[in-house]
Amino acid sequence: MTTSHPLPPPDPGPAGAPPPEAVAPLMRGIAVLRHLTDAGGGAGLSELERSTGLARSTVDRIVATLARMGHVRLDGRTAHLTPRVMELGNAYLAALRLPALLREHADALADALDESVSLAVADGDGIRFLHQATRRRALSLSFRIGDLLPAERTAPGPLLATEWTAADWRRWQARRAADPTDRTFPAVPPRPHPTPDHAFGTAVERARSDGWALDDQLIEPGLVALSAPVRTADGRIACVVSVVSHTSRHSADSLRTALLPPLRTTVTAMEAALTAGPPPPAPDTPSGLAGWTGASKQELGREFVESLARGLTVITAFGEGRPSLTLSAVAEATGLARATARRALITLEHLGHVTAHGRDFRLTPRVLALGFPPLSRTTLPRIARPHLTALTGRVQDSSALAVLAGDDVQYTAWIPTGRIMDVDIAVGSRLPAHATSVGRVLLAALPPEERAARLARSAADPLTARTVTGPADLAAALDRVHADGYALVDEELEEGLRSIAVPVRDRDGTPVAAVNVTLHSSRRTPEQCVTDVLPALRATAADIETDLHIATRFARVPPL
Ligand code: PHB
Repeated sequence: MTTSHPLPPPDPGPAGAPPPEAVAPLMRGIAVLRHLTDAGGGAGLSELERSTGLARSTVDRIVATLARMGHVRLDGRTAHLTPRVMELGNAYLAALRLPALLREHADALADALDESVSLAVADGDGIRFLHQATRRRALSLSFRIGDLLPAERTAPGPLLATEWTAADWRRWQARRAADPTDRTFPAVPPRPHPTPDHAFGTAVERARSDGWALDDQLIEPGLVALSAPVRTADGRIACVVSVVSHTSRHSADSLRTALLPPLRTTVTAMEAALTAGPPPPAPDTPSGLAGWTGASKQELGREFVESLARGLTVITAFGEGRPSLTLSAVAEATGLARATARRALITLEHLGHVTAHGRDFRLTPRVLALGFPPLSRTTLPRIARPHLTALTGRVQDSSALAVLAGDDVQYTAWIPTGRIMDVDIAVGSRLPAHATSVGRVLLAALPPEERAARLARSAADPLTARTVTGPADLAAALDRVHADGYALVDEELEEGLRSIAVPVRDRDGTPVAAVNVTLHSSRRTPEQCVTDVLPALRATAADIETDLHIATRFARVPPL
């Protein structure tokens, strides 16, 4: 739910001047990432200059550094966050382990109730989402992973506030006084009129005695939510699970009567998973994570801000089985000198992305504010497009992304060359799978029975004199595709049209889409397609897969 009210100035982070050891370029880089996140994933360089108050040359160097790290892509004078930036939030979510242990339970509850279900944790005086099991409805009701909401306008808020300290309550009051309409929460519509502080205090006391809490249209008219806490063995709240609905389906009261029992059953299962879930896999001990930064500095010189790159790399030292690290462990994982790692940790702690408990450091939910919300809603075509654009630029022929849709392939992205005579493929259009290179790649990957059933259906109609037809010939063609790892289809769909495709695989290795290059037969021989185009096509598929695997570690990425 993004709203169109003007963006507030970026959250200044915890009050107080930065400590003398703080690394200024790391603070500036994080300010740029925060602004890009709040702006929905992209912003012009001049806008970044205005919103961060940084000089033009500083913004240029920060963006160049983030681009070198793969966190940002520059498109003319506009910077866009890339899926790679999700590695930061992934480090937090992997270290926390709650999504790994609980998301199946949340998804099962959403399926059983046909309502959206979310997991949230406390973040200062707000709540931040860790997981969203959303329903696809015309009227979409859900926040994104990483969105921050004011605690007092949510159902999880009163439950989490039962654990607030006096200092937390003071911070909450100060924030309410400074921002009475919630302008510092870009994910929610502004509060129409200030509400009295005591109303939230009452809600917290009720949540404490009831063990559940309701949001009766506190965020916006129509939105209702019911929440319950998931506790660890020692009784502390690990996170809050919510069922979210709309007043067209449930009033707040009917939500509680009908859905509290199944919600409680899920909480019991989640609490069992927390205490009895499998231990984290043996942590791989990363080393030399920051080793590449020196080389980039040599190559890019002044344009590369090494202290920013090193500081962000510190975040990725955390992960599954590595939830809390000492300074020495961070220095070892990153390959940074202790003094450098220490200054980065002090900076991240000052900005609220890290907390220190004695000698141990942990990431906080605020790490999700570094790019996660807009990217957690990305799609495969959006991930693929910049890579296809680079491919078309390189080979000077049009490229496309497609998925299987029944017996057809459906094109979900297409990048033309811009030449007068060009292949023309409309996004959304469908072609018979068996006669296209993308279709052959995807058919070749199907389990044998499904493949045979499809061939029996689709093998009949030749489209040109060259179209391979007949189940036996097509099966032989698919076997070759399977063995080669690519499909070349030569004038089988249309006279004069030649196309070569490779699969795009998900984290489990299953092809979920295919990318191709299509050209007129006068441009290259079939052999030249293999020698001149295939290597670039494979590299493009690998780049798309890298992004897809990062993006789908904790978020769902629809194929179209
Ligand atoms: C949500 O998951 O979108 C959600 C949860 C609790 C609320 C509001 C929204 O109070």
